[in-house]
Amino acid sequence: MPKLIVVTREGESREVEGEVGLSVMEVIRDNGFDSLLALCGGCCSCATCHVHVDPEFAAKLPPMSADEDDLLDSSSDRDDHSRLSCQLQFTAELDGLRVTIAAED
Ligand code: FES
Repeated sequence: MPKLIVVTREGESREVEGEVGLSVMEVIRDNGFDSLLALCGGCCSCATCHVHVDPEFAAKLPPMSADEDDLLDSSSDRDDHSRLSCQLQFTAELDGLRVTIAAED
């Protein structure tokens, strides 16, 4: 299975395996990272699954929807590499992707 590297808010990094077809949010949550709340369960309506994505993978990510863009605007920790992890499907192409869980708003 492809690997996902998750960096916590404390700066700890852990490599986990992710099932293709799940969202990046689901891979993070299923591996026990409780700090990623993902309160809406992946409906793109809460922004508590906000992550910063390794810029090297930017070209491999799906484009951002207007809804995702609007929700990210509500976060004070938004930067150029911000994404909602529930909107990123984990694929074999994303093997080695590094994501950092964003600060809590
Ligand atoms: S889980 Fe709510 S927007 Fe991603």
